[in-house]
Amino acid sequence: MTNKTVIVLCAIILGCLALPTPEEDMSIFFENVDRNARIVGGSEAADGAHPHMAALTSGVFFRSFSCGGSIIRPSMVATAAHCIVAHFSGGSLSSSLMVNIGSNNWNGGQAVRVIGNATHAEYNSQTIKHDIGLLYTETITFSEIIKPIAISYEYVDGAVSVKAAGWGRVSTNGAIPARLRELTVSTLGAQQCQDEMARSAAQLGFRPPPLDMDIELCTMHENGAGFGMCRGDSGSALYRVDTGEQVGLVSWGLPCARGAPDMFVRLSAYQEWVEERLR
Ligand SMILES: *[C@@H]1O[C@H](CO)[C@@H](O)[C@H](O)[C@H]1NC(C)=O
Repeated sequence: MTNKTVIVLCAIILGCLALPTPEEDMSIFFENVDRNARIVGGSEAADGAHPHMAALTSGVFFRSFSCGGSIIRPSMVATAAHCIVAHFSGGSLSSSLMVNIGSNNWNGGQAVRVIGNATHAEYNSQTIKHDIGLLYTETITFSEIIKPIAISYEYVDGAVSVKAAGWGRVSTNGAIPARLRELTVSTLGAQQCQDEMARSAAQLGFRPPPLDMDIELCTMHENGAGFGMCRGDSGSALYRVDTGEQVGLVSWGLPCARGAPDMFVRLSAYQEWVEERLR
């Protein structure tokens, strides 16, 4: 089964493994999980440096973290479709699903209730395409440390400096960090991304799904292996360092920090989809 060899970044998030009702296709998350995966080369984010950052948390007696997201409107958080699917069963979202905002600690700040969602209808868990969704939340009050991020729908080519923040693991077999971390990486052009993915997949012995560079964006740390992959969590925003605008969403990758590119939803392909759903 080729899709069993696909590693979704979610797989390396402790919270994802602890979800109460994983979808059938989440089996791919349990095989070939790189348990040594960690943020390499990232650094702890300064307080308030990522005011758009949201942590998806759930659980009644004991809360766990699953994914990142970004505040884009007073009652809307953008995230990855696979993050929403993981919290959806029996026709509804988990009633304990919240977004924690306004803190560098995933379980700190304000916990805002999620009341609905939009998941891209063509989201495909096998090929991990159209991995985009929106969460509708109770009203979020903006402040110095809670702000929406602007989205840029311009096509991003290679060699653009971009940044992501997330609560992905930072040490071998470690727990997810309490504090938000960040990493700056560079985008790759379409051909370079295809080439790098093919090269690293062969080297690491994985068969990733085919790439679609019109709807996916890829990044790599300038130093390649040993640096920075896994820098964020699924659903977290990828944004341009120069303008601060969000251009992508963390989607999937091969085992981290071994020199393979990381894959993001390319927001320029989803302008219509997002704008039709803004509230
Ligand atoms: C909410 O998410 C679930 C799981 O992804 C999906 O099946 C459902 O269609 C979504 N709702 C909308 C309105 O998109």
